[in-house]
Amino acid sequence: MARIAVVGGDGIGTEVTAQARKVIDAVLPGTEYQEYDLGARLYHRTGEVLPSSVQDELAGHDAILLGAIGDPSVPPGVLERGLLLKLRFDFDQYVNLRPSKLWPGTTSPLSGVKAGEIDMVVVREGTEGLYVGAGGVLHKNTPAEIATEESLNTRHGVERVIRDAFARAQRRDRRHVTLVHKTNVLTHAGNLWSRAFAAVAAEFPEVTTEYQHIDAASMFMVSNPQRFDVVVTDNLFGDILTDIAAAVTGGIGMAASGSVNPERKYPSTFEPVHGSAPDIAGKGIADPAAAILSAALLLEHLGRLDEARRVTEAVAAEVASRAPGAPLRTAEVGDRVASAL
Ligand code: IPM
Ligand code: MN
Repeated sequence: MARIAVVGGDGIGTEVTAQARKVIDAVLPGTEYQEYDLGARLYHRTGEVLPSSVQDELAGHDAILLGAIGDPSVPPGVLERGLLLKLRFDFDQYVNLRPSKLWPGTTSPLSGVKAGEIDMVVVREGTEGLYVGAGGVLHKNTPAEIATEESLNTRHGVERVIRDAFARAQRRDRRHVTLVHKTNVLTHAGNLWSRAFAAVAAEFPEVTTEYQHIDAASMFMVSNPQRFDVVVTDNLFGDILTDIAAAVTGGIGMAASGSVNPERKYPSTFEPVHGSAPDIAGKGIADPAAAILSAALLLEHLGRLDEARRVTEAVAAEVASRAPGAPLRTAEVGDRVASAL
């Protein structure tokens, strides 16, 4: 039986994870859940973000289903570094998986793009780059203040995420991988990424490859997103590029993500890309589609490929059946998807 830790978190997080649970139950009855109350409430009550006893318990689960973390009442960075990034680093979630697809029933802000034409997955590195927090500040609060932020890139870390991207491309129809970086300026890290990419590409002769600078890739993401299949890139470039990818496929309402440790040595975290949306929290009107699609990624990660496919198709059908402009109720979406299964 799968054992899933549920971290609903803040704002609409708990509302959408409840629907994702409902849907997992429909395809995998008997799944065990343990709910953890993390986020702004715990922080205000105790000053802690991720108590080590809770982290140890999370480590014992097969996967973590996360809603959203973040609240305007908490200083920026506290929950992000203390929870989301801590899980990514401590649980070695080096593959940050972000598929983007233009589903029937959702509209792209780009004109002339039809459903099905955009179908890509960004494999964003999750444990290195500018996110490691290396660097520091000198002469703080003086006119001579200097802040540095260093990007860490290891051959091991870069190569393993590139290999994961190629393995995913190998299983897809188009079998194409685009490396995105900024090798013309970030020559040290860029060179490492380029050499690792070439070495791994040689292991996958059936996969075609391409390189784009991050600025050009951002432009193509808007002017011609159909050209992308699998994209592999570093942590910060991937952060930015996946927001653009979500935007061109109808916004964050459908954007799912996984912070994955492919070896399953540690649990992986699955969460919608959207935030806690405090403005609509508690009203029962948040769209749980992205959370349910994240649950599908979770099922896929646990090897439940058939269940994952069925959940994804049920969400797609539910979204396609929505009457334009009709009010949305969180629980009703969950009910409709679950009963279709
Ligand atoms: C994301 C978020 C996080 C990131 C923040 C909240 C730390 O933007 O998951 O994309 O930058 O990775
Ligand atoms: Mn982001």
